[in-house]
Amino acid sequence: MKTSIINQLKEIVETDLTSFHMPGHKLGKVYDKLGYSDIVKNIYKMDTTEISGTDNLHSPEGIIKESQERASKVFKSDSTYYLVNGSTCGIQGAIMGICSPKDKIIVNRDCHQSVINSCILGDIEPAYILPKINKETNILEGVEVEEVLKSIDKNLDAKAILVTYPTYYGITYDLKRIVDYAHEKKMLVIVDEAHGSHLGLSDKLPKTALEQGADVVIQSTHKTLPSFTQSSMIHVQGNRVDKNKLGTMLRIIESSSPSYILMASLDLAVDIYEIKGKDLMEELLNNIDEFKYKLKENKHIDIFNENDKTKIFISSTKLGMTGYDLEINLRENYNIQVELANYYGILLICTIGNERVDFDKMIDALSDVTDKHSSDKVINHIDYPMNIPEKALGPREAFYKPKKSVKIDESIGKICGEYIIPYPPGISLLSPGEIITKEVIDYVLLCNKEGMTVSGIKDSNLEFIEIVID
Ligand SMILES: Cc1ncc(COP(=O)(O)O)c(C=O)c1O
Repeated sequence: MKTSIINQLKEIVETDLTSFHMPGHKLGKVYDKLGYSDIVKNIYKMDTTEISGTDNLHSPEGIIKESQERASKVFKSDSTYYLVNGSTCGIQGAIMGICSPKDKIIVNRDCHQSVINSCILGDIEPAYILPKINKETNILEGVEVEEVLKSIDKNLDAKAILVTYPTYYGITYDLKRIVDYAHEKKMLVIVDEAHGSHLGLSDKLPKTALEQGADVVIQSTHKTLPSFTQSSMIHVQGNRVDKNKLGTMLRIIESSSPSYILMASLDLAVDIYEIKGKDLMEELLNNIDEFKYKLKENKHIDIFNENDKTKIFISSTKLGMTGYDLEINLRENYNIQVELANYYGILLICTIGNERVDFDKMIDALSDVTDKHSSDKVINHIDYPMNIPEKALGPREAFYKPKKSVKIDESIGKICGEYIIPYPPGISLLSPGEIITKEVIDYVLLCNKEGMTVSGIKDSNLEFIEIVID
């Protein structure tokens, strides 16, 4: 068969890969374990459209309304809307449904690219807050509450504030203080909780954004709960948000033929969450504790398990290996796929779809890697570019200006015409309209040589970059 995508995916399925990456259903294993195989096996037959009895996502009155209402009850929102184009479209809908053109929004600099894209689409001005960084791991540690409060004071004309909570790496902070202060200053609070749809499943996990008073919360259900890739939710609470405008914006952004397969998978994820979620999470957290305990014996491995214990960062520096090399090693030699690698280590995303055997395999693999592949090679430090580049033009203005391509080492000091986004985690180091700095270019070229992928830039070889013709 010439079906190249199917052939490759079939091969991966047949190898019985151990998954520490998203989606949260872990290659469907959780459905089999919980007795949903028959539904999932036949789900292609449910790929339908708006016909009699199937309701309509864009004006739900029947089965979709019922399922969304159940989700709202389960996730403790006032209203919940299903999304079929990931949190990306939820973020776009929230930002553009709340801010009008020329409005200002405060956002953490390490926001997902969809936040800046929303500013381009909606002609909205972002005001950035610098996050913290852990120098040992190059992990961005989210915002400092005091910095956020200062930024609110400095930007009292902002319509809203958007923060990422938890971060990709599972780091959280006192969101309630931010929410209370923003509300005092008449600002709406949007939370990108793309990595936290599972938080409500245990008191041992950080509080959810809704519990801490956020007005709009966007969750990638597919990342940390068992639903299909691209299926997400947006939750609203309180009366600060104009739900009509939000709904209209979502209708503008999302497909007019929303996938019933994705919506059915959200229905299923809500069912699992409500009926079995807490027990499965308890089991997962116990497995993680045991994993961490056993890993302590391996003196070549340092482990960082942050506020959200389902995210585990494993440092590879004492193995004399970059995270990029460890990721490849685990996949090629042990059939284990992790979520992402950076220069210093790898990130595991563990969900209620993971079983004890997955953790046992990882322990054995790491012990074998230590015996066979560790070396005395020193992994030098690479500084993450922490300075926010100077803004010459707003992102939208820069997007529509004429551009030309120049050699990357001749671009320093020029206005950037595209993005530079290490992927994953998809956080922009340079955005359209910002002055290109040596700090960013040096970092990206160095890390790219070590194995980091860069997206947002047309020349993936990183020889040329587009600049704005001024
Ligand atoms: C922090 C953050 N927000 C939003 C998104 C977008 O989510 P989705 O893939 O569901 O569109 C991502 C994706 O990786 C993310 O990391």
